[in-house]
Amino acid sequence: MVDLRVSKIKSLKGEIEIPSDKSISHRSVMFSALAKGKSVINNFSDGADCHSTMKLFKQLGVEINKIGEKSYEVISEGKLKKAVCDLDCGNSGTTMRLCSGILAGQTFNSVLFGDESLSKRPMKRVISPLEQMGAKIESNDGKAPLKIFGEKLSGITYNSPIASAQVKSCILLAGLFADGITTVVEPYKSRNHTELLLCYMNGNLSVNGNSVSIKKSDLEPRVIDVAGDISSAAYFIVAGLIISNSEIIIKNVGLNPTRTGIIDVVKKMGGCIEILSQNTVSGEVVGDIRVKTSELKGCKISGEDIPRLIDELPVIALLATQAEGETIVSDAQDLRKKESDRISTITKGLQSLGADIEEKTDGFVIRGKTKLSGGVELDVFHDHRLAMTYYVAGLICEKEILIKDFQWVNISFPEFEECFDKIIVE
Ligand code: S3P
Repeated sequence: MVDLRVSKIKSLKGEIEIPSDKSISHRSVMFSALAKGKSVINNFSDGADCHSTMKLFKQLGVEINKIGEKSYEVISEGKLKKAVCDLDCGNSGTTMRLCSGILAGQTFNSVLFGDESLSKRPMKRVISPLEQMGAKIESNDGKAPLKIFGEKLSGITYNSPIASAQVKSCILLAGLFADGITTVVEPYKSRNHTELLLCYMNGNLSVNGNSVSIKKSDLEPRVIDVAGDISSAAYFIVAGLIISNSEIIIKNVGLNPTRTGIIDVVKKMGGCIEILSQNTVSGEVVGDIRVKTSELKGCKISGEDIPRLIDELPVIALLATQAEGETIVSDAQDLRKKESDRISTITKGLQSLGADIEEKTDGFVIRGKTKLSGGVELDVFHDHRLAMTYYVAGLICEKEILIKDFQWVNISFPEFEECFDKIIVE
C-alpha cells in the first residue's frame, strides 16, 4: 500500500513524452500471438494490465522475449496451446473480454479469472454473443471466473446494444476462428484499434460505418510501434488547462479520431489546445499537443461523444469543476461498470474536495467554477483512473490531500509521477 500526499503547485512548464497506449498494447501482443512467425512490438506498455495479457499468452504457448527497454519479440506458431493453469487477467477487463473471444473457438478448454474488481464486472455482454456463435461458457452468474470450452463457432450478425470496443473486439476475434462471416453493428462507433491493427496484419476485415465484418484469416507478423496513450495524456491536458501560468507540450500522443473526444470537449469549453504535428505509425495517427492555462466554460457531453472519451470522464469531471457554468454528462451509464462505479466514486470524491457535482443515473452535473479546498483523504477503489484524477486535483487544492493506495496507478501508467515531476514548477 502506497499512500501519496499531493499539494498545490505554482505551474506546469515544459515537455513530456506520453507512454504507450494500453488498448493498442493489449491488441499488439494478442494479435502477434495469433500470427505465424516473429512480430516485434516497440513501445509496449509497462502497465500491469498489458503485462497480464502478455503473461497469459506465454501460458498459451507463445514465446515472448524482451529485446529492448520497451520492445518485445513475439514468436508464434500461429496456434495457441492449452495452458496448464487457469489464466489470470488481473484487473484488466480488456484482457478478459478479448481473450474470451480468442479462446471460445480453440480446440481446448481454458479458465479466465481476475482480481476483486474484475470479478464484479459484467461478462454477459460477451458471453451472450459468443454463445450465439456456438461457444460454451460457464460463469459465476455472468461474472468471472469464466470456464471456456473450445467449440466450433459460426459467424453471426450481432447488433450490440452498447458501443463497447471490448464487446466488438471479442466478437471479431471469435470471428477469426468461426465459419462464415461475423458482423458487429454498434449504436455509436467505439474505438477501432482492433480493426486498424487487424488490417495492418492482413486480417480479412471490412468496415461500413458502425458495422464491422470479419472472416477467418491468417494474420501476418509485423513490426508494431505502439502510439502514446491519449487516456494517459488526458491528466496532463487537464492539469495544463487548470493550473495557473502553465504551458506544456505532450509528445507522441495517439490521435485516433475514435479516442479524441477529450480534445473536442476542451475546444467546446474554450480551452487553449493545439495539435502541433501529426504522422501515422503502424496504422494509427500520432501527434504532439500543446495546452495552456485557460478560462473555461461548461458544456454538454452525451450520446456518440461518450465512447470517444469514456475513460477520460473522471478527469473531465475535475476539469468541469474549473469551468464557469454547468457541465452535463449524460448517456454514460456504462461508467458504473468500469474498475469502480465511476459515476458514484468520482461524484463522492470530488464532493469531498469541495466541488459542486450531482450524481445522475447516467452521468453527472457539475457547476463551476469552484475552489477545491482539499484537506481530505481519498479512496481510489482499486481504480487507476481515480488515483490519477485525484493527483491532478491535489495540484490545485488549497490544502494538501492524501490519496490512499496510489499504487493502483501502475495498472496503466507506472511512469505517471515521474512524468509530472519533469514539468512541475513548485
Ligand atoms: C477498451 C475499451 C473501453 C475502455 C477500456 C479499454 C479497449 O471499454 O473503457 O479502458 O481497449 O477496448 P468499453 O469499450 O467496453 O467501453
